[in-house]
Amino acid sequence: MGTVILGTGSCLPERVVTNHDLAEIVETNDEWIRTRTGIKTRRIAAAGEETYRLAARAAEQALAMAGVAAADLDLIVVGTITSHMLMPSTACFVQKEIGATKAFAFDLNAACPGFLYGLDVADQYVRADPSRKILVIGAETLSTRTNWEDRNTCVLFGDGAGAAVVGGGPQGRGMVGSVLCSDGRLWSLLHMHAPVSNNADLEEPDHPGVHIIMEGREVFKYAVKAMETSISDLLHREGVSLDEIDLFIPHQANIRILNKLVERIGIPLEKVFINVEKYGNTSAASIPIALDEANRGGRLKPGNKLLICSFGGGFTWGASLINW
Ligand SMILES: CC(C)(COP(=O)(O)OP(=O)(O)OC[C@H]1O[C@@H](n2cnc3c(N)ncnc32)[C@H](O)[C@@H]1OP(=O)(O)O)[C@@H](O)C(=O)NCCC(=O)NCCS
Repeated sequence: MGTVILGTGSCLPERVVTNHDLAEIVETNDEWIRTRTGIKTRRIAAAGEETYRLAARAAEQALAMAGVAAADLDLIVVGTITSHMLMPSTACFVQKEIGATKAFAFDLNAACPGFLYGLDVADQYVRADPSRKILVIGAETLSTRTNWEDRNTCVLFGDGAGAAVVGGGPQGRGMVGSVLCSDGRLWSLLHMHAPVSNNADLEEPDHPGVHIIMEGREVFKYAVKAMETSISDLLHREGVSLDEIDLFIPHQANIRILNKLVERIGIPLEKVFINVEKYGNTSAASIPIALDEANRGGRLKPGNKLLICSFGGGFTWGASLINW
């Protein structure tokens, strides 16, 4: 049996924030943001659009497409770095929202590749028991963890959620495999502090606040190289050539990283799914939102070879190959 994606869903906050809107709060302009990042708009959450709520709406769509009842789910995995609370997990909130009473639920912190890591976890559970039904979600409200006075970062990110229902399917279909990597030595280049400690002994001097801190240029270099290596390792291991790939969905971080990666691996642009101009970088939600748009937009046909890859804080990165 294979581990197949039975349904996809996504949910974006209503509010659209343009580059011109951002130019009113920091020293920036539409032209700079568009040429450096390709981003034109992003969605920013309002009251009632907490991470778990976006995640639950995306999940309901995925379940409806899959024809799976929430009560029949065995596991819910949510990739997120912007959970509504530190405890319980976003996954437990989603469980409550959708009524997945039988499932166990946990969050997974792998930054932007959170959905990829989650898909791999689901793949292992389904391989062990193909009757299992698993909900994998990537959901973020990065607006809650953005320093809105830092023009280097606040123009890059957005909020949203995407989901996939995963279960057993015919042999030869579904997940082929993944290459997942981390390098904690490089943590400082892209990180977010925890809330201030209540234990005076463990207090950090000069706590900068709970928001994303990034060395943009260094991240750019590592991201391109790391994603390129994981893709070539994966394709080599699985004996698949790049020409055989029908659709490539990279992490939607910014258009310059995407263009550089596409140029380095040498895949035609028409096979690459790009929506970064609409949503910015939504971290763990980026791949499943794009996957859902590609799926509902008819870009994926049964038997297609789908390649996905991502990179984020940790550093964490990886690539997955799926026979759709
Ligand atoms: C962030 C990024 C777009 C910045 O582009 P860059 O070409 O590297 O720009 P630099 O950081 O060198 O900054 C160039 C200048 O633009 C300025 N600048 C930065 N943000 C700006 C903004 N929003 N508007 C206007 N100017 C800005 C800088 O202050 C700097 O000015 P200075 O030369 O006077 O110091 C780029 O480094 C990048 O894409 N990095 C990867 C980020 C990412 O995707 N991270 C998430 C990965 S999961």
